[in-house]
Amino acid sequence: MTKVRFRQALAGLPAYVAGKGDAGKVVKLSSNELPFPPASTVIEAGERALATANRYPSAIGSALVEKLAARFGLDQNQVVVGPGSIQVLANALTAVAQAGNNVVYPWRSFEAYPILVGITGASSRQIPLNSQGGHDLNAIMGAVDEETAAVILCSPNNPTGPSLSAMQVREFLRALPQTVLAVLDEAYFEFDTSAGHVDGAALLADFPNLLVLRTFSKAYALAGLRCGYGLTSPQVAAAIRKVATPFGLSAVSEACALAALEAEEALRQQVAEVCEERERVLAVLRHDGWNIPEAGGNFIWFGGQVGAQIQEAALSQGVQTRGFPEGVRVTIGSRAENDQFLAAIREIKPR
Ligand SMILES: Cc1ncc(COP(=O)(O)O)c(C=O)c1O
Repeated sequence: MTKVRFRQALAGLPAYVAGKGDAGKVVKLSSNELPFPPASTVIEAGERALATANRYPSAIGSALVEKLAARFGLDQNQVVVGPGSIQVLANALTAVAQAGNNVVYPWRSFEAYPILVGITGASSRQIPLNSQGGHDLNAIMGAVDEETAAVILCSPNNPTGPSLSAMQVREFLRALPQTVLAVLDEAYFEFDTSAGHVDGAALLADFPNLLVLRTFSKAYALAGLRCGYGLTSPQVAAAIRKVATPFGLSAVSEACALAALEAEEALRQQVAEVCEERERVLAVLRHDGWNIPEAGGNFIWFGGQVGAQIQEAALSQGVQTRGFPEGVRVTIGSRAENDQFLAAIREIKPR
């Protein structure tokens, strides 16, 4: 038995529960992944990078930073990349939060938030979602006080689906004290087809306390490679870089992310297919009488106790979903996978 003294903050940390399922053995609709493999050009780029893996990558992912900055019309010192947007968020929270602070975010939302906040020593202020599964922005703002280090908004919200409008976020940011870091997690941005939805990149010029998070894990089909990024002000980016592990992004991840940006037309097509599938599945379910919240991401949400029943029925037919105490989240997969899910829950009474 070791006598090592661990930090007190670790004692209360919840464990991250990853979506279960071996994609080869079950239909895996539990982790909001893209059902398509990466493009051949992306795989080739990864192989080329692997051939020189005896060399360190760039310390801060310079080539990807340069490409993203050009794409968003930002300075390179406004872009940070890392091994997943989770890590960029972890670094940002480390830069602003410590014991005595609080971080405010909606709940239920992405389950990494309480873990990352807890690691900093700060406390979580979880604000219940509204009845449609969306953010209660007034209540979130109401929870902000002198000790608030950061607020996290998630649009579209994982796991419930609704997104925030540009107007809602702009108004929120205007009212938020400039000393508070505002994180807008847009991991599912590319799937959001709702009218007027927020595009955090367009707000950066007006809000230097804003950090927009995006990822290559979802729409870019690179979840296994771990690559995400943040767009923000030069000062916030500099603070994130200070606490980031040097060489955090591997050369293979960086090369693949760059190649994925080049392959964007094909990816856009795949994302459009997923969105079409989402609308088809939603139409079937709503027609049957299911009450499903607005779905801006590549997943849908069944709230309430019926979630456990859905999860069980799906699993009995080889479909893995992601259950939570408040409901179940089902990733939109290929047409055949979605049909398998719909067939599996056919006997359950809609509500
Ligand atoms: C809302 C949200 N943010 C961030 C992430 C993590 O993304 P990454 O793979 O880039 O760390 C996820 C992944 O499920 C997510 O749902």
